[in-house]
Amino acid sequence: MADLIAPSILSADFARLGEEVDNVLKAGADIVHFDVMDNHFVPNLTIGPLVCEALRKHGVTAPIDVHLMIDPVDRIIPDFAKAGASYITFHPEASRHIDRSLQMIRDLGCKSGLVFNPATPLTYLEHVLDKVDMVLLMSVNPGFGGQSFLPSALPKLRQARKIIDDSGFDIRLEIDGGVNTANIREIKAAGADTFVAGSAIFGKPDYKAVIDEMRAEMAK
Ligand code: DX5
Ligand code: ZN
Repeated sequence: MADLIAPSILSADFARLGEEVDNVLKAGADIVHFDVMDNHFVPNLTIGPLVCEALRKHGVTAPIDVHLMIDPVDRIIPDFAKAGASYITFHPEASRHIDRSLQMIRDLGCKSGLVFNPATPLTYLEHVLDKVDMVLLMSVNPGFGGQSFLPSALPKLRQARKIIDDSGFDIRLEIDGGVNTANIREIKAAGADTFVAGSAIFGKPDYKAVIDEMRAEMAK
């Protein structure tokens, strides 16, 4: 599976969002990571389906990876599907019926995913591996960009990699939080294939230089 770089627009300049997304895709990003927060599941408030739809209308054709940090999730899933989301991932704690929410995402034509907070066990995957297109491991506690990578995510990545490989399903393993050019190599070695990076990319003036360096580090 090809490695994907997924810049988190949480760290972009929201006043120029369309331009920022164009620039980061031109710089070599593969997918757009779209953080949705509700000031309830996490202590921060961001963007919803309207902004996803606006990016599509602006002409963004790259996959949009919608990371829901909201509770409940079912109500908003159809709106994001309609708004042009490609992936829709949610935290198991935020759905009463995880299997149903995953199935709903697929039925609406999107790819589904479960997100694991640093302290959330991977056991939630056991009975839904056939309904998941993406496993997203948080390497920070969700809510804010710019936090430091928690090293406990590395053994957890290895554990998730094994579960995915043993399952035989085609499932991406994404990592989110504190990813940068200095640690991306060991994160890939631990089993990730999809790399969210917010502040490490949007915090620098030259997006292409950062993305090129990330790929060079992973190729080492
Ligand atoms: C955190 C979000 C992340 C965040 C990552 O709750 O899910 O996607 O934007 O930002 P960095 O890469 O700066 O840790
Ligand atoms: Zn995220």
